[in-house]
Amino acid sequence: MLKVTVVEAGTGARAQFEASGDEPLLDQLEREAPFQFPNLCWMGACGTCALRVTAGIEHLETDAFGVGATVQVDPGWVLPCSAGACQKAVDDAEPYHVLVEV
Ligand code: FES
Repeated sequence: MLKVTVVEAGTGARAQFEASGDEPLLDQLEREAPFQFPNLCWMGACGTCALRVTAGIEHLETDAFGVGATVQVDPGWVLPCSAGACQKAVDDAEPYHVLVEV
């Protein structure tokens, strides 16, 4: 199981949800966390959606849906429109955690 914790940097407000490997992380963030997630292209081409992952980035697949993101992000950042949970982390009974800052 992969738990995603989202922390709003300005206020410290948090949201947590269990991530699925079936859809892009951005879809899940928009549905499960009450914060604004800037986006534009939804195909890894603009970089607008880039988010800092402060822990557990190894549990995310950066191009989980084959969109072929063309924007490079710095280490520790992901494009949630094209990233998703690693299926191994989702399927495993052991809890894994990802901490995202927005
Ligand atoms: S929305 Fe453009 S890269 Fe994610």
